[in-house]
This record gives sequence, C-alpha cells and structure tokens, in this order.
Amino acid sequence: MNVINNIRQLRSWGTINKGTRCIFVPTMGAMHEGHAALIRAAREIAGQNGNVAVSIFVNPLQFGPGEDFEKYPRTLIEDLGICRDNGADMIFAPKADEIYPPDRSIVLHETSLSHLLCGASRPGHFDGVCTVVAKLFNLIQPDDVVFGKKDYQQLAIIRRLVRDLDFNVVLHAIDTMREEDGLAMSSRNRYLSPDERAQAPALRAALVAARTAWKNGERTPAALQTLITKHIQEHAPLGRIDYVSAVDAATLQPVSATTELVVIAVAVCFGTTRLIDNVELK
Ligand code: PAF
Repeated sequence: MNVINNIRQLRSWGTINKGTRCIFVPTMGAMHEGHAALIRAAREIAGQNGNVAVSIFVNPLQFGPGEDFEKYPRTLIEDLGICRDNGADMIFAPKADEIYPPDRSIVLHETSLSHLLCGASRPGHFDGVCTVVAKLFNLIQPDDVVFGKKDYQQLAIIRRLVRDLDFNVVLHAIDTMREEDGLAMSSRNRYLSPDERAQAPALRAALVAARTAWKNGERTPAALQTLITKHIQEHAPLGRIDYVSAVDAATLQPVSATTELVVIAVAVCFGTTRLIDNVELK
C-alpha cells in the first residue's frame, strides 16, 4: 500500500498506474467500520486488477466557525491499518497547505440543495465539501467513486457535482453501517456521553417506525415527520431535534407528484454533537 502526502508524488503514482481502473473513497479519517465497508465496496468494484485509492484529509473549508475542526479526531496510524486490512492500494493523506495555497481565491458554490436540511445550520459547509471533492477528483482522476448514504444530503450534492461539472466518474452509494443497537456509525459518536449514547439509537428506531408506517400505507410527509419527532422526543429527551424532513431523494425538495423516491432525513444534537441519519422509503 502506497502512502502519499504530496501532489507531486500523487501525480507520479497516477502516471505509473495509467490505464488501471481506479476506485476512489474520499474520507476525513477517524475511521470506523463504516469507512471499512466503503473501502471493501471499492475493492470489490476494482476487482483484482484495479486500484483502490483512499484520501484522508480533514478539510478545513467544510467546517464553520465554532465547529469541531480543531478537535475533529485525527487517527492516521489506525486509519492506515483499516485501509490496509480492507484492501486499499494507495492512501493520499496531504496536509492542508498541500491542498490549499495560502492565496487561494476560487471555491465552488452549490446553489440549490445546500441551504436545506443540514445546510440551513451549516452555511458554507457543502461549498467546502464540493470544493475539496472536485479537487480530489482532479488530483486522483478516478473511474469510480464510493460515498456512504449516511450523509444523504452530501450524496445528493455530489451527484449534482458529478453531473453539473461533467466529472467522468461512476458514483456508487453504499448503505450506512450501524452499531448493533441501530445507531449509524459516525466518527462523532465518540463525543457522546454514556447517557447520550444510550438515547442516540432512538433516531434509527424512529426512522424504522416511519418506514413501517409507510409500508402500511401512510403517505403523508407531515404525518411521518410527526411520528418521528414524537418518537425521538419520548426516547431521546437529551436530544434537540434540528430537523425531521421527508423529501424527494434527488432534489431534497418537498415530496411532489414527480418524486420517484422519498427519503426521510433527521438531525439531532446531543449537546454539541450533531447526529444525522435517514431512511429511504421503498
Ligand atoms: O464525508 C466526508 O467524510 C467528507 O465530507 C468528504 C466527502 C471526505 C469531503 O471532505
């Protein structure tokens, strides 16, 4: 496994591996079983002859003032072990100044999906995500890219990024990995106190209850949202609900007659730790 931390070496890796299919998994490190599943999925897509490339970069541009950029867990040594164990071939783990020149003056701006849901309370976050992902796509030149469904809004925005900026990549969306009690795996779960951790699975339980209601014929977004809100309020009193939204999975807009797939996304804050989860209704 090659570990590369600068663009010059990355470009020579690209030259040496020209013609070999490359499957790319972008991450911010602090890896857990969810990341391992993405890397394994990439390995499967790559087959024996392809390359699996993983980036580990805590992107300052996607953290707002007062967010957890400084304290975001950095666990490079453990991350490299997870990458190796799950079949990665190349890790790109640059420092921030390798990615962002001090006088950088260009960022991407998403104008439709990014001010909703999480974007409403994290202004600029998805512009930061789009900017770094576009740069990483340009640097790594993958054929395929692998993203998790846990951050559904990010996934929808990256689909737009690929479409609107004509990136020649195939995007693969991978199901969320969960703890045994249903809590979606996240690098931020480690911030939860024992009491908060005990209540956090209520997000998943509420979403599953809504999916059951959907399967039993409930189609009104407001009714599904109310069901989820009540469940979380009852079972996770330490949580403060940021949003519960049943939306069109592609546009993130309210469900309409043209909606092909409905997703319900939730965000709940336990203290300063913001947890997100979602369920597709099918
Ligand atoms: O989902 C993440 O870990 C990050 O937002 C990403 C896609 C690696 C961009 O920094």
